[in-house]
Parts: sequence; C-alpha cells; structure tokens
Amino acid sequence: MTMERSLAAFSFALLASLASAVVLLVQAQQNPGFISIDCGAPNQYTEEYYNIAYATDEGFIDSGENMQVSSEVIYTYYQQYSKNLRSFPTGTRNCYTLRPDRGKNVTYLIRATFWYGNYDGKNQTPTFDLYIDVNYWATVSSPNYFYEEITYVSQADDIQVCLVNTGNGVPFISALELRPLDDDISPSGLGFLQLHWRYDIGLSSKSPKRYLDDVYDRIWEATNNNLWIILNTTSAIDLSVNDDAYKYKIPGEVLRTAQRSMNASSPLKFAWSSIITKKWIVYFYFVEIERLTSGQQREFTISNDDNQFRETVSLEYLKPVVVVSTPVNGGNITFSIESTNKSGKPPILNAVEFYTIGDLSNVPTAQDDVKAINDIKAMYHIKRESWQGDPCVPSKYTWDGLTCSYGNPPRIILVKLSSSNLTGEIVSSFLLLSTMEYLDLSNNQLTGAIPETLAELQNLRILNLSGNNLIGSVPEALKKRVLDNTLIMSLIGNANLYQANPCPQKKKPKKILIPVVTSILGFFLVLFGALAIIWLIKRKRIPESSERTLRSKNRSFKYGEVSRITGNFGRVIGEGGFGKVYLGTLDNGTLVAVKMLSESSKQGYKEFHAEAQLLMIVHHGNLVSLLGYCDDSRHMALIYEYMANGNLRQHLLVKMHLPEDHLKVLTWNKRLRIAVDVAQGLDYLHNGCKPPIIHRDLKTANILLNEDFRAKIADFGLSRAFASENHSYVSTCPAGTPGYLDPEFQSFGNLNKKSDVYSFGIVLFELITGQRATMRSQDGGLSMHILQWLIPIIESGDLQRIMDPRLQGEFDINSAWKVVEIAMSCTKPMAIQRPDINQVLIELKESLVSEARGSPEMTSLELHSGSAPLAR
Ligand SMILES: *[C@@H]1O[C@H](CO)[C@@H](O)[C@H](O)[C@H]1NC(C)=O
Ligand SMILES: *[C@@H]1O[C@H](CO)[C@@H](O)[C@H](O)[C@H]1NC(C)=O
Ligand SMILES: *[C@@H]1O[C@H](CO)[C@@H](O)[C@H](O)[C@H]1NC(C)=O
Ligand SMILES: *[C@@H]1O[C@H](CO)[C@@H](O)[C@H](O)[C@H]1NC(C)=O
Ligand SMILES: *[C@@H]1O[C@H](CO)[C@@H](O)[C@H](O)[C@H]1NC(C)=O
Ligand SMILES: *[C@@H]1O[C@H](CO)[C@@H](O)[C@H](O)[C@H]1NC(C)=O
Ligand SMILES: *[C@@H]1O[C@H](CO)[C@@H](O)[C@H](O)[C@H]1NC(C)=O
Repeated sequence: MTMERSLAAFSFALLASLASAVVLLVQAQQNPGFISIDCGAPNQYTEEYYNIAYATDEGFIDSGENMQVSSEVIYTYYQQYSKNLRSFPTGTRNCYTLRPDRGKNVTYLIRATFWYGNYDGKNQTPTFDLYIDVNYWATVSSPNYFYEEITYVSQADDIQVCLVNTGNGVPFISALELRPLDDDISPSGLGFLQLHWRYDIGLSSKSPKRYLDDVYDRIWEATNNNLWIILNTTSAIDLSVNDDAYKYKIPGEVLRTAQRSMNASSPLKFAWSSIITKKWIVYFYFVEIERLTSGQQREFTISNDDNQFRETVSLEYLKPVVVVSTPVNGGNITFSIESTNKSGKPPILNAVEFYTIGDLSNVPTAQDDVKAINDIKAMYHIKRESWQGDPCVPSKYTWDGLTCSYGNPPRIILVKLSSSNLTGEIVSSFLLLSTMEYLDLSNNQLTGAIPETLAELQNLRILNLSGNNLIGSVPEALKKRVLDNTLIMSLIGNANLYQANPCPQKKKPKKILIPVVTSILGFFLVLFGALAIIWLIKRKRIPESSERTLRSKNRSFKYGEVSRITGNFGRVIGEGGFGKVYLGTLDNGTLVAVKMLSESSKQGYKEFHAEAQLLMIVHHGNLVSLLGYCDDSRHMALIYEYMANGNLRQHLLVKMHLPEDHLKVLTWNKRLRIAVDVAQGLDYLHNGCKPPIIHRDLKTANILLNEDFRAKIADFGLSRAFASENHSYVSTCPAGTPGYLDPEFQSFGNLNKKSDVYSFGIVLFELITGQRATMRSQDGGLSMHILQWLIPIIESGDLQRIMDPRLQGEFDINSAWKVVEIAMSCTKPMAIQRPDINQVLIELKESLVSEARGSPEMTSLELHSGSAPLAR
C-alpha cells in the first residue's frame, strides 16, 4: 500500500475558497501549544489560509542547509512551507528538538511534511528514514508532496524528530508541526499511532478541513464513494462536554457531511491490503444527520471480517458517536458497517481515520544522562555531527566519543572528549553521569580546579585529565579513590596543578592567584593534592610516562634507597625538631640533605607532613626545595636540596680564636644579601601565596646557605595558612622559638604575617650584632632578649656598640643605620606598627644598592628574583 497522501488535487480548489479563509483570520487567536516550523524558511511568517504562525529552523536544529524547490515547480502547492526545505548533506542523523510547553507524558500530534521539488536539480528523489525520538517512524521516499503524521506520547521534555541518512540520498524536510492533544483520545500503552488516512466523508468540496475548523489542526481530506449517497445538514451538531465523543473535538464542519449505503441490506465496506505486519486501529465517527420519522432509528454493526472486532451502534439525531476499533491485523483487512435488521435504515459514516501502531521498542537513554550530556554539549559548545538526538539509542547512532550500556534504560558509561577544544572549568554536569566508568578529558584547555565531587562517581574507573590547564590540586576524595585502587587517574601535563599554586612563580603572583585559591579550604586542597601526587607515584597507579614526568620533579624513595643514598645514615649534618638530618648523594651525584622523622615524636610526625606538603608545592629561589619524599612503612624522610653552607646561625656564632677565623666571618655585604634573600622568601610566602603562608618559626637556624652564601628559608613545619577577613589566625597551639616570637602573639595567641615580620626583625638584629636572639646578660647569669639589650643602646645613638665585633668595623655606617631602622620597625611591639614584608624588602634592597655603590665586592651582585629557577 502507498503511505502517501497527496494534497495536490485539493490545492487549487482551496484557492477558490480563499475568501472564507480570510474571514477565519478575524477570529483567530494565537495557536496555543503549537510548534510550527517551516523548514528552510528564511524568516518566520503567518500562513494566511489557516492563520498558523510558522517559525524558521532556528533554535530547533543546528545542522543542515536551507534550500528552495526548483523554480519550475515552486507554485505547485499553495502552502508557503512547500516552497523551501532544509537538507542534510552531512551527518548520519540530524534531529530537530521540539520542546512543547506542556512537557512530557502528553499526547502530541506530530506531522512532518516533505516535498522534494527537485531542489537540488538532480531529479532524483532521496530515500531516508524518519525517527521519532529513538524509534523508527517511517521511510521517506516520494517525489510527491506528502506528510507523515503520528500521535505520540512524549517520554521526555524534549521530542526529537530525526532524519537518518541510509545511504540513499540526502535527507530533507519541508515542514514540521506539533499539536498538543487531549491525553485520552488515543489508546494508552500501545506505542504511537501512525496515520494512514483521515477522511471527511460526504464533503462536496475537495478542500481539506484543518485549523481553525479543527482545534487540533488535523487535516481532514474529502472523500466520497460514488456508490454511496451523500448526506449533509446545516444543523448544529449537538456536542456537550459530557458526551463521550466530546474529547475527540471533531469539527462540526466534518461531522455535518456523511455518506450512507444505497439500502439497508448493503453494508459500507472498507477493504485494504496491508503489506506491513503492523496492527491497525480505525476511528469511526458517526452522527445521525437525517431527520428520521419518529420511531425509526439507525442501528448498525461495525465489524472486522475475521471478527477481531465487533461493535453495534444506535444513533440519535445530531448526537455524535465515536467507535475506536481494537487493534486488528492481517494481510487483507476489511471493515463492514452493516445495518441491523431491526433498523431498516442503511448504515452511515461521517468521518474515519486509519492508523497503524508504531513500535516503541527502543528505550531511550536514562533522562538524567541525556540531560547531563546535552548540558555538557551546550556548555562546551561541542559541535560534532553525531551529537544529535538520543546519545545512545539506536546503538548504531551512538554519539561519537560515548559508549553506553544497553540495559533498561541505556546508560552512558564512557565519555571520551580528549582533544576536543574544551575550555572553561570541569562542569558539574559530569557528576550527573552516575554510571560513568571512564572519563577522558585529556588534551583540552580546561581550567579551574578538579571538582572533588568527581570522587562520588562510584563507577568511575579511569579519569584522564592530562594535558589541560587545571589548577589547584587533586581533591582528597579522589586521592582516596586512587589509594583504594578504585580509580586510575592521569593528570600529567597540568603544569599549574603540580606546581600547585598557592604560589606560582610569577612576577605579580597576587593578581594571578586571586581567582585560583581563595579560601583556606582551597589551600588545604592544594596541600592534599601534593600528597596525592606522592601517593600516585608511590602506588604506581599512573602510567609509566606520567611517572617519569613526576619523578623528574619529586621522587619517592623506598627506605632502602634512603639508606643507600645516605651511606647507611653515615653523616649527620644537623638535627631538627623532629629528627636528624643526614647527608646523601643521589645517583646522579647531587648532594641532598635527608631529614629523617624520629618515630618517637608524634608532634614531629605532624610537622613532618606539614612541611612535606608545603615544600612539595611552594617553589621559590629563596625557599629550600624538596626533592623527594620517603613514606616507607614506618620510616619517613624528606629529601632536600643540600645547602652546602649550613644554617645562618652557625656562621654568626663563629668563634674568633685564630687569625684565619676572620675569613669565616660573614661580611656585611653577605649579611645584607642574606637579609634580602630571606625577605624575598618571606615576601613570597606572605604576598605571593593566596592565602598567605605564615612561617611561624623564622630564625637564623632555619635560614640555610648554599655554596654561594645565598639564603633560603627552611623548616615550614610550623607554617600555617590563614585567610580570615581580618587576616589573623588564631592559633590553638602556638609554636615557635622563644626570642623570635611576636610579643603580641605570645600574649594574645594572635598570629598573622606581622608575627613573621617581627621574627625577621630579630634575624636582622642577629645579622647586625652577631648575638643570639636570647642572649646571656653581661654578667653571664640571666638570659635576656636581644631587644632588651640593644634598644637602649640604639636610642643612645651608639651604633658601634651593637655592631658585630667580628666585622671588625668593616661596614658602611649609613647602610648599617638603615638596617637597624628597618629592624626596629619590624620589631615594634604592636603588630599594627610593623611594616609589611614587601615594604621591608624594598628598603633592604635600597640599602643593598647603596652599599654596592661604594663597594667593589658587590658589583657582580644579582638579586635573587622570585622567578629564579629552582635548584634541582
Ligand atoms: C502519564 O499520564 C497518565 C495520565 O495521563 C498517568 O496515568 C501516568 O501515570 C503518567 N505517567 C507518568 C510517567 O507520569
Ligand atoms: C449538501 O448537499 C447538497 C445536495 O447534495 C449540495 O448541493 C451541497 O453542496 C452540500 N453541502 C455541503 C456543505 O456539502
Ligand atoms: C440494495 O443495493 C444493492 C446495490 O448497492 C443492490 O444490489 C440491491 O439490489 C439493493 N437491494 C434492495 C432491496 O433494493
Ligand atoms: C489479499 O487479497 C488478494 C486479492 O484481493 C489476494 O490475492 C491475496 O492473496 C490476499 N492476501 C492475503 C494475505 O490474504
Ligand atoms: C438480517 O436478516 C437477514 C435475513 O432476513 C439475515 O440474512 C442477516 O444476517 C440479518 N442481518 C443481521 C445484521 O442480523
Ligand atoms: C579545535 O580548534 C582548532 C582551531 O580552532 C580546529 O582546527 C580543530 O579542528 C578543533 N578541533 C575540534 C575537535 O573541534
Ligand atoms: C590519558 O590521555 C593521554 C592523552 O590522550 C594518553 O596519552 C594517556 O595514555 C591517557 N591515560 C590513561 C590512563 O588513559
């Protein structure tokens, strides 16, 4: 059988009735709930014959090209939407997305109109498939104007009408229309109904009836059987809301005409052969429009010839009756409407519709997944030909880059969007793909932090974020997943993730950092991220290539290795608060300082971790670099760059026994340079990091010197971050070294950057005086604070008395006064009176420069800048 419904025959007839159509315009309102698209139209307009507003494709589909039918045939049909079309030369499946106002679980009439019209000049009608959402609807193949129409219960907020290229020509479409219907006019639970014929019987004019006559905009085509008698009436059809027939909203115009058979003994018969195996449903519409003499009543039986359906109907004058057949099937189908012998009146029929039941066997992808992936598509502006329609179904049209599981419902389990030009952050929509096992976002330009909630994707096995510009750190929850062996994570090539940033090596880190890590939480995420990386290396959970990349930065060591590189802990070079420091030699010959954590000290354990975490992520030329880490069962070690000249304290306290001991004394110039180095390191912690890092234990013993006597700050074990509004951090566990502790901090437990400035001031005074921060009083008995000793002397103006005697007067007096002034300002009793370290740094550099002018020793000086390469 043919599935075409040609309107050609009716088109000219309709022109003749233009006048009445214009009258309709007057009563027209907006088309409620209608979606009407004139595919390929250059602009929107109102179709005057029916007063229906047609939109362009915009907003319904992105792909395709607007085309016009051949100019030779363009006036064949009166409908404006017949004249242009949208064709889809690229992509296998191209889908219109309709989002009706009434949402899902509503019955809609959906009509797709096609007219090839030789638009491409090839005179070759294409053949392609039409899908409604994930299910096959029809195969389109006709040179004639025709439409496909269904009544369809939407399963989701969006309805997709897809044109599928089956390799037999370029798909196209002329118009697409959607009309909401009352929910219960089609039998429920049967799939969708596909219209084959819809007839207004007995109409003498040939023009079809549709909107506004039909509020649902069904198109009723006129049909008459020459062997039957035409009946019509001008009386109003008696339709009350309470009638069963009311909900079908059949236009009175349609019902006022009918046909009947010649006599009561001959039936009205419909017979057709069906090559399709689908089941048919027929809607019969009856109204008695003949005024019968009293006592007479038309009564007839509607039946299918092989008795799959049978129903008897009695009519009352002007009262419509609707009979919907049960589904019937067969190769040759016949329906008969036969008068019962009681009636004596021939059977009548006013209108009829023939449908087949469409198969909804394909289950769409879970709605959450569909929504999530569509949001992802929209947010990253992903333009892939295949990314239309349902992401998983039908399986042969699964979106490129996705893999799905085909349970009920299908789910997205793999998302591969590597090298897809994705920019911006990792959007939260990924988190809604709850069955996702594999997420590959490698080699894009993704920025921002890694969302911790990714760890909540319980099925996620592989997370590949390598080759992006992600910042911050690996969230702890993800780190834990890696540790638990439930996730493989690849993060290589995210430079700023590994450098971890709270402190990037930039000239103006403050500006760069503000959007990066703005909270204390963010900071700690960074800390844990660093640890996570260590674990990643240790557990060998990331592929060989990424491991190599990481190893070049921060190595993990087995306890055996640590033992080997230290020559079985042969040479102690220091002792910190939590354990001994040994000299070691890496395989490449680099000397290192290996700090072992003594197992006894619990406090030490915490400090060890804190230091490890900080040092792993904070890199600056004036901060001691961490080269490696050992966390092997109970042995923990930190492996630092070796600082050949030990700590500053040793050098300030050299004993002057022999004349050559004078050579060991740090010159004033070296001291100034050290002061600048330390100020730079501190400035970086305070102002280069967001939130700022407070050292909390700055002292000469924590300032290490390399072979060139350049200083680096060590021992971040007590450092803490703070970021509260007033830039203060209330410590519950004050730590630090007596003599360097901010007096305000000591009394109020209130620690901020200014506490470090205070400690720095004490360091300056030690550089000036060569004394300890806490010194013996002259009589050798009581200990006294360095300030107690020197402030009265400074106030007396006697600078020489406080200067380190080891300098033997070799210093510039102006520069010395300058440094004393700076140290005094740093050690003001109230934090608010002290300058910021960056101000201190500026002033120190000035004194250094002025010193350099007068001293040949300093001419080759280069200041360490914050962007100096790291010692590796
Ligand atoms: C859809 O609507 C029908 C009534 O129109 C209702 O019985 C059914 O529960 C609804 N289904 C869903 C999934 O909302
Ligand atoms: C009704 O029937 C009469 C006679 O058969 C015909 O002339 C007239 O055009 C019909 N009216 C309609 C609306 O079909
Ligand atoms: C009824 O009409 C049919 C033709 O439709 C005819 O063959 C038959 O003779 C008629 N019967 C009577 C009783 O008029
Ligand atoms: C349908 O009817 C035609 C004749 O009208 C017959 O040739 C054909 O075999 C029938 N098909 C079936 C499936 O009964
Ligand atoms: C009507 O009566 C005739 C005989 O008079 C019989 O053959 C026919 O089956 C009857 N029709 C119905 C629908 O009962
Ligand atoms: C990414 O962008 C570049 C340049 O804009 C373009 O050449 C390339 O095709 C794009 N790749 C993808 C997968 O969109
Ligand atoms: C992650 O992606 C990169 C680049 O696409 C690839 O080289 C690497 O093998 C991937 N890693 C994993 C674990 O899949």
